[in-house]
Amino acid sequence: MPRITVPDLLRMKAGSQKIAMVTAYDATMARIVDAAGVDMVLVGDSLGMVIQGHSDTLSVTLDDMIYHGRCVDRGLERAHLTVDMPFMTYQVSPAQALENAGRLVKEGKAQSVKLEGGARTAPAIRAIVDAGIPVVGHVGLTPQSVHAMGGFKVQGRGDEGAAQVLADALAVQEAGAFCVVLEMVPAELAAEITEALAVPTIGIGAGASCSGQVLVCNDLLGFDSRFKPRFVRRFAELETPMVDATRAYVEAVRDQSFPAAEHSFRRRGARKSAKITRLY
Ligand code: KIV
Repeated sequence: MPRITVPDLLRMKAGSQKIAMVTAYDATMARIVDAAGVDMVLVGDSLGMVIQGHSDTLSVTLDDMIYHGRCVDRGLERAHLTVDMPFMTYQVSPAQALENAGRLVKEGKAQSVKLEGGARTAPAIRAIVDAGIPVVGHVGLTPQSVHAMGGFKVQGRGDEGAAQVLADALAVQEAGAFCVVLEMVPAELAAEITEALAVPTIGIGAGASCSGQVLVCNDLLGFDSRFKPRFVRRFAELETPMVDATRAYVEAVRDQSFPAAEHSFRRRGARKSAKITRLY
């Protein structure tokens, strides 16, 4: 099955067809979300938080992104694969940005890369796009600037802030991004930006008017009942059934009901042995 391309995504915006994007960090989750029909899969640097257990995304490395990009690529048949550029892999210079974006494509299997930041990121975006690598921009709340922003806060609530987010989105489009993520901005502002841009917007905590939406897979599936920000809708509550299933396994090991005869092998001649179709 052919993978979704940048022109396909631009056609979706032109045809007012909403784009569904979700994060994934490994081949199993990639296979699941691809089978569900998502259009774009993002290997987000949110993996620093949901996979590595950090309180922010700042310590994620380019090698981490390459590793997870390769894992996710193996699970995809149809969805477009975008891989995040982590903190300090594109801020130093356009040359640094281009070299690292190239590694994400060559080694991390990215079809496009995502960079955080507005007007100040434009030279890096331009350098990457000029080399033929598609770029997704990311404005509004940009988690790699958590310390400058004073926390994970809604951006663009006041007139000045709103004008800044709009200017950033336009600058990113002007620099050549084919798509822009709008994170944690008021719904009215996201609608205005979506109207103003020719390229698709993908919202997270940005209301319903964006060209598409993105959520972290662990959030939409309810892997962590402690985490419930306003912008997340949990489409399942999987933490409880996963804990229950694992508890049932622990009990079965302790009371010796697992493994049963059908999970065990016999010596040749004792009984026709079961055929192994999958190991691990
Ligand atoms: O890192 C990430 O997962 C992201 C999305 C939440 C947009 O940037």
